[in-house]
Order: sequence, then C-alpha cells, then structure tokens
Amino acid sequence: MQIVIQTLSRWYNLESRDLPWRRTRDPYCIWVSEIILQQTRVAQGLAYYERFVAQLPDIQSLAAADEGEVLKLWQGLGYYSRARNMHKAARMVVDEMGGVFPSTYQDIQRLPGVGLYTAAAIAAFAFGEKVPAIDGNVKRVGARFFGLFEDIQSQGFFKKLFPLLQNGMAFADANEFNQAMIELGASVCSPTQPKCGECPLADACVARLQNLQKQLPVMQKKQKPVNKYFYYVDIRCGDHHAIVRRSDLGIWSHLHEFPLLEGDTADWDLDVVLGRWGIVEKIIVEEERNFKHQLTHQTIHAKCWYLCLPDNKFVQKDGWQWLEKEAILSLPLHRLMEKMIRFT
Ligand code: ADE
Repeated sequence: MQIVIQTLSRWYNLESRDLPWRRTRDPYCIWVSEIILQQTRVAQGLAYYERFVAQLPDIQSLAAADEGEVLKLWQGLGYYSRARNMHKAARMVVDEMGGVFPSTYQDIQRLPGVGLYTAAAIAAFAFGEKVPAIDGNVKRVGARFFGLFEDIQSQGFFKKLFPLLQNGMAFADANEFNQAMIELGASVCSPTQPKCGECPLADACVARLQNLQKQLPVMQKKQKPVNKYFYYVDIRCGDHHAIVRRSDLGIWSHLHEFPLLEGDTADWDLDVVLGRWGIVEKIIVEEERNFKHQLTHQTIHAKCWYLCLPDNKFVQKDGWQWLEKEAILSLPLHRLMEKMIRFT
C-alpha cells in the first residue's frame, strides 16, 4: 500500500490543477469552496468562489451579512439551500462557538448543510485529520480500485469503503491524499472512458486487473424527473411589475419571482389563471412565452404571460410588491425568473 500511496502522491504533485482553495488552509475558505463544489463544476464554481471570499472574507462577515446579500452572491448556482445553510452555520459559529470554526470531523458535521463528505474535506484540508473525503468521484475510484460491487449510493458501500481508504491514509498526508483521490476521479477515472494508461493506481486496481471498468461502479437507475407546470404572469403597471418573495417551503425559498400559479396539467389558459387570482381589471396581453427549466428531480414547463394594466390601476394581492425592473434585478432571483425577466 505504501508504494501505491507514494505513486499517487508523485502523480498528484505533477498533474494536479492549481486551484485557489488548494492554496489555503483557512477552514472558512475551504468550507465555502466545498459547499460551492457540492453541485457545481470547478470551471463554473471558480468565479463564484473568488467573488464570495472577496466580498465575505471570513465567518464574521458572512454572519453579519443579510440573507439577501448571500443569495445574490449565489445567484445562478442553483440549490440555494446551500447558501441559506451557510449563512445559518456562520451565525451558529459566531453566536455559539465563539467565532472559531470547528476543527474536528465530528464537530464540523454539526454545521447545517455539512454532511460526511464536506466535514471530512474540511477536517483533512484545513486541519490534517486522517479521514477520507468520499464524494461521487472518490466512490467511483474506490469501487474500481478495491473491486466493490455494492450500489455506490448505498450505506453498505460507504461503510466498506471508508475504513479501506482510512487504512490507506495511514501512510499519507491527509490533505494530499484526499485531494489526489478527488483529482483522480475528476480527470483520469472518469465514468465511461477511464484513462487507465495514465492512472497512478493502475497496477493495483482490481477493475483494471480484471477488466471490470465497465461493470464498476454499480449504480441503481436514476428516477425520472417529474413534470411540473408553472403559470407566471409578469403584470406591468407603468414601469412597475408585480413581484413575490417565495416562502420557506419547497424549491427556491426566499428568492423573488413573478406571481405564480402551479398547475397540474399543461393546458391552463390565461383566463383560468387570472380567474384563480380573481383579477377582473382590464388587461392587455403583450406577449406569451414558454420556458423549459430542468432541475435534478423536476422538469418545469413554465408559461409566462406579459401583461399590462392600462389604467395605472395597481392590483393588490397578498404578498405582491410593485417594483421597477432595476430594483427587481438587484434582488436574489432564480435562473428561470432571470430568463423570464431578461426576455422583456
Ligand atoms: N470537488 C470537490 N472538492 C474539490 C476540490 N477540493 N478540488 C477539486 N474539485 C473538488
């Protein structure tokens, strides 16, 4: 095993990408990077990371920021609960932990939004703790290297892989070992076409030795996304548009959007939608557009009617605010809302 670890270390030092979060040991910056990278590719995440740590450089500044500022920094990344949880976690560290970032694998897991992978990544990268950081990439590398046939999404798989990797780490630097495994999964041990010829682990890899690269990892079929039908109205009165802030529940909570009715079928028309709100005022229909928006578990078929109230008569409904376009663009918006408003 020691030889394998040495080969991995040599490979990592020669081949790895120079990424800003690899140049720091600051747990706050590492945490920010890991939360961004949970569901975002490195190429897209880089600019968000740089902006986030420039504007909110430490846990104190994040705790003191308002939620709108944090969501605005996150705009376009999706999975906004990540940003809300970070904000909550920062306040927890400042209010309950004396402003000092927790420093062990166990304690880091207490932060909202931090699971086993992220806790291990921070513990290893910032504090050198010898715990394996097991994300999707590392699961694939591990399943192939050790020849594990359990479903990689199962608890059983995780329970097998964790001690195997932790034993391997006995001879390694925790930071370098974990970064190297992540890098290997991202650049060499890819899902469909692993480049075994370039892999530092090839000589000891079960999948490589037994030609099982296509069979491993084992992964259950994904559920098909469900269809949702969203009906939006962009109601304009002069230069003002009606805007609603989404509630705590469901997707996009606390982000802003045009008034929305969620339908159960694809065939609602404008009369049905206006009728549900009880809007009886005279209205001019300026445009109608369809948008398809893909989330991980939902396909959203959205229709937006661009409407004008001609007589400068503001309609007031529960939760509606009337704002000019500039003001709306400065609020935290989800990507579908951005598409809808930028169209006008
Ligand atoms: N993805 C998740 N964590 C990462 C890291 N530290 N470096 C590169 N990609 C990553």
